[in-house]
Amino acid sequence: MTNRIDSIYVLRKGRISMDFKEKLKMYQKQIDEELVRYVRKEKCPEEILNKSMEYSLMAGGKRLRPILVLATYQLFKEDIETCMPFAVAIEMIHNFSLIHDDLPGIDNDDFRHGKPTNHKQFNEATAILAGDALLNNAYMVISKDLKNSKKEDISKKIILFEEFSEAVDRMIAGEFVDTEFEGQKISEDYLKYIHKNKTGALLKLCVRMGAILADVPKEDLDRLTTYAEKIGLAFQIKDDILSEEGNEQILGKPVGNDKILEKCTYVSQYGLSGAKKILETITKEAKEELKVYGEKAQFLIELADYIQNRNK
Ligand code: IPE
Ligand code: IPE
Ligand code: MG
Ligand code: MG
Repeated sequence: MTNRIDSIYVLRKGRISMDFKEKLKMYQKQIDEELVRYVRKEKCPEEILNKSMEYSLMAGGKRLRPILVLATYQLFKEDIETCMPFAVAIEMIHNFSLIHDDLPGIDNDDFRHGKPTNHKQFNEATAILAGDALLNNAYMVISKDLKNSKKEDISKKIILFEEFSEAVDRMIAGEFVDTEFEGQKISEDYLKYIHKNKTGALLKLCVRMGAILADVPKEDLDRLTTYAEKIGLAFQIKDDILSEEGNEQILGKPVGNDKILEKCTYVSQYGLSGAKKILETITKEAKEELKVYGEKAQFLIELADYIQNRNK
């Protein structure tokens, strides 16, 4: 018994002190391995559609959203199996949003993850349908998990299902407003609205899913929600900054496209240095929220720094 407790202690200690990058890679690997299980390989008339879904899903994304689900959950509990269906589903939604975001009718981008965008690699019809299919597959993954869940978890997961679908709805709404207001001078409130919805909604959802799946009390959920809202905004501000001064080679997607499309961004509104100042402030505020958890929250704290300092 003592040995077992000792070994758990060592494991926990090891996990806490594990270098951030190593842990990030470990999560990315776990997620990639799980996602691969959902790739359809069978010979069928829609084989190219399946290949096109796989092309984007396995293209080398950072996996930030599923990582947020797992890392938030692991602030409170050890296992990750409970979270995996939701982690997979959110990454599918994210990739659907990227495929459609790159389409000629939206951002008209030719490169992502250092490769041709989905519609460039396949064609527009395939890319539209691959996005649709990933969107629907996300709901299939969650439905299946619900069907196989223990009775006592069902009501919690139905509540999550609703929150999940609402966040996807917000992301789509944000994408619309982002596109609609290209080339226009908009108010600060509208700019916040775009970022809160097109990017913030999914990132907030991820943290809340991890927390809700771990059955945390309201006080923790509120605190983590504030952290999530702040890193959600920080993430998009950094995306805006990288679109202005990032390295295309490292970023794997075009630089300067926000300017060409006259997107409403934190850079167009506050200038590069203004955007950087806001990014720094909200990153600090996000990290403050997690101080109460001490060393346990080290990974999520460093994740906020990673979002601020990332170059891709
Ligand atoms: C890019 O998201 C789109 C935004 C919401 C800004 P990520 O930078 O998380 O995309 P990948 O999956 O890591 O490429
Ligand atoms: C993408 O925003 C947001 C979603 C896909 C929901 P951007 O258009 O700013 O992101 P990138 O720069 O193309 O990745
Ligand atoms: Mg866009
Ligand atoms: Mg875009």
